[in-house]
Amino acid sequence: MSEKLWGGRFEKSTDEMINDFQASINFDRRLYREDIQGSIAHAKMLARCEIISDDDAEKIIAGLKKILAKIEAGEFEFSVALEDIHMNIEAALTAEIGEAGGRLHTARSRNDQVALDMHLYVRRQVCEIKRLILELQAALVDAAEKNLGVIMPGYTHLQRAQPILFSHHLLAYFEMLRRDGERFAGVYDRANIMPLGAGALAGTTFPIDRNFVADELDFDAVYQNSLDAVSDRDYILEFLAAASILMVHLSRFSEEIILWCSREFSFVELDDAHCTGSSMMPQKKNPDVPELVRGKTGRVVGHLMAMLTAVKALPLAYNKDLQEDKEGLFDAIDTVKFSLAVFAQIVAGMKVRAENMRRAVEEDFSNATDLADYLVRKGVPFRQAHEISGKLVHECISRGIYLKDLALDEFKNFSDKFDADIFDALKPETCVNARNSLGGTSTEQVQRQISDARDWLREVAE
Ligand code: ARG
Repeated sequence: MSEKLWGGRFEKSTDEMINDFQASINFDRRLYREDIQGSIAHAKMLARCEIISDDDAEKIIAGLKKILAKIEAGEFEFSVALEDIHMNIEAALTAEIGEAGGRLHTARSRNDQVALDMHLYVRRQVCEIKRLILELQAALVDAAEKNLGVIMPGYTHLQRAQPILFSHHLLAYFEMLRRDGERFAGVYDRANIMPLGAGALAGTTFPIDRNFVADELDFDAVYQNSLDAVSDRDYILEFLAAASILMVHLSRFSEEIILWCSREFSFVELDDAHCTGSSMMPQKKNPDVPELVRGKTGRVVGHLMAMLTAVKALPLAYNKDLQEDKEGLFDAIDTVKFSLAVFAQIVAGMKVRAENMRRAVEEDFSNATDLADYLVRKGVPFRQAHEISGKLVHECISRGIYLKDLALDEFKNFSDKFDADIFDALKPETCVNARNSLGGTSTEQVQRQISDARDWLREVAE
């Protein structure tokens, strides 16, 4: 005889090691709130459809609420022998209220039950993540506004390319995060479908009302195919994909911050409260937070790969493989939330070394495109202007000076189109503000981005 809730057809109890291997309670206990919420809606529906009595439903609901309070007070004892959160709660319910507890699982299987819990959980977590994304976006806009006017070299191939506003660079991440938020909104939509009532796989013989459960739990729709309802993990894959892309964004930003903090760049300095020192080298101040975010990105991407691989070639409908959807998802959720929260702090506390950025712009040739564009405005074809500018850069390099150090006569040796206004054209401010095309780096464009971003943040907050 087995003491399991499903023990009827068994002669022996489960081997202890096998039970440890297949039990999920050590990680799925975090679904307790959703499990109870789902069971309360199910019990209400069963009574409404006269599948159980009102009296039993009341007892069940009161019992479940008691269990919820117990779990939240840390007084509930989870049992590995009871495998998972569903059976832990059901067993506790029956212990609490007696026979009525045994009626809760009517017209339900753990397969649709766990699917419901996961949908509810993902939906709730997506809302929290979207809020954290907005907070980081707000921190970026604040930093962009505060540092408006700071000019840095923009890079391609990690080589100084053209001068840009530091704020423009920050706002690029604002845009990436905006898409991340949209991706998570899509995840929400696909998680916002109610699976309960699918039973184990084929539906149920009882006259249930799935739409009632969906309304109770605020779902937009119910699954139209019971096999799909218990087998679908697309919303988890999509969550992990959205989380991976978000982490990749944070990782790219992390990499830049790490570079900027290095003595070689010295573009920014992180707040002391956000860094750590070295146990051996007294001078060190390490950017651990962005390093960890960069490192943890691998974990989240790994969880996506693990889940894609777990679902690939999985026959319909439920297979225990699907229990593997939890740990990676939970870890990805924790990682993403933590990373977003610390990143908002890093951005808010980051000191910008404007003078070092300026030096990197001035003591280099990132204004060479502007030199060519100047000649184009004077009627020289771009290809020729490019050639002349290249020769001037070469001349400067061979003499160890920069374009701004050349005398007007020297410019004229390369083209008679040069006039005294060339010196103004080469100034970083001129280069930046000349890029006033839509989405460009000019002060005007960046100010527009900031005010659009603020409007947008206000709108989505409503
Ligand atoms: N712990 C299981 C999971 O997370 C619950 C569903 C179990 N269903 C079953 N037929 N064994 O997937």
